Amino acid sequence: MYTIGEEEIQAVVETIRSGKLFRYQGEEQSQTDLFEQEWAAKIGVKHSLAVTSGTASLICALAGLQVGPGDEVIVPAYTFIASALAPLAVGAVPIITEIDESLTLDPADVEAKITPRTRAIMPVHMNGLPCNMDGIMDVAQRHNLLVVEDACQADGGSYKGRRLGSMGHAGSFSFNYFKVISCGEGGAMVTDDDAVFERASLHHDGGCVFFKEGVAKQTPLFAGWNFRFNEILAAILRVQLTRLDGILAGLREDKRLIREGLEGTGGFEFSPVNDAEGECAVMFSLLFESGEAAAGFVEKLGETGFGAGSPINSGRHVYANWESIMEQRGSVDARRNPFKTGECDWVYTPDMCPRSLDIMARTVNLAMSPTRTEEERAALVAGIRKAAG
Ligand SMILES: Cc1ncc(COP(=O)(O)O)c(C=O)c1O
Repeated sequence: MYTIGEEEIQAVVETIRSGKLFRYQGEEQSQTDLFEQEWAAKIGVKHSLAVTSGTASLICALAGLQVGPGDEVIVPAYTFIASALAPLAVGAVPIITEIDESLTLDPADVEAKITPRTRAIMPVHMNGLPCNMDGIMDVAQRHNLLVVEDACQADGGSYKGRRLGSMGHAGSFSFNYFKVISCGEGGAMVTDDDAVFERASLHHDGGCVFFKEGVAKQTPLFAGWNFRFNEILAAILRVQLTRLDGILAGLREDKRLIREGLEGTGGFEFSPVNDAEGECAVMFSLLFESGEAAAGFVEKLGETGFGAGSPINSGRHVYANWESIMEQRGSVDARRNPFKTGECDWVYTPDMCPRSLDIMARTVNLAMSPTRTEEERAALVAGIRKAAG
């Protein structure tokens, strides 16, 4: 959602003028420190760690939870490929699991995919749509599994009054250009657990203990990486955070009014949403009887001048297009490819999640906008009605 203005420009100018571009520079709290505190407060968790990307936040979450070689992590069939790459980055194997019509992880198939090696479940709040967290947490508790919420597409959303990202053992967010709030590229990992936070902090910056007092009090040092955040981006995000509630309110209102306008239209149903009040309303999903009907609708809508798309055509968001994973090339070096070094006996094929493929083909996503005018909305509603008729 590109909603950015003069305040962000001022924040960048002030940060550059301050001469402090490094998060551990000087005695005062840095922009990154302040953003972390503000983000933790917003999400309702104890700790937040700002990092370079959503992918880095997932990697730090898994590393902090000590998920690693020999472990399996359950991921949904519909998500950006990064959700499946993060387990591989820590030496674990992603297990691809069916979604249901809510476009999020199906708790029943999660349970069916559990093996003695399963260590964690990664529910992904796709398009800002909350997963069925009651169902997922129930499976996790009964099987003693960790939960890492991928809320990269769901900054600020909630499920039954709790912020997405705050219900699992750790949560992840992205602030790349396409997300609800953005600084171009960035991410944050959150957790309530001190030890998980400490390990994630070390993993995100193998050298951070040299810069920052108080890091790694309990954890013996181990070799980490550098996913350190940048002061200019943190300054932008602090302003973006003040816009978050307004952006979400605008998206939700746009969706509510379009839904109202579409009541009674035949040819499709509104896709089910696990918490309609808490969803970010980034997209409005319509569910058709067949993939052909959905594709026909997209074509006809295009003729009226409006764009829409089916998840099945969303490239690297569809597991069957994850070439590196389908072909089990889990690392640049075959000697540390988690698919080969562990005991992975899963067979990966493009048709391994047929229900997800069917749902993705039958769904059409319409992008919502916090700035759409009444006239634009009326024209869109008329276009949808015409295309569905
Ligand atoms: C569901 C999901 N997970 C993870 C990521 C990774 O985020 P980033 O691009 O910031 O690394 C994305 C980004 O598009 C995403 O959509």
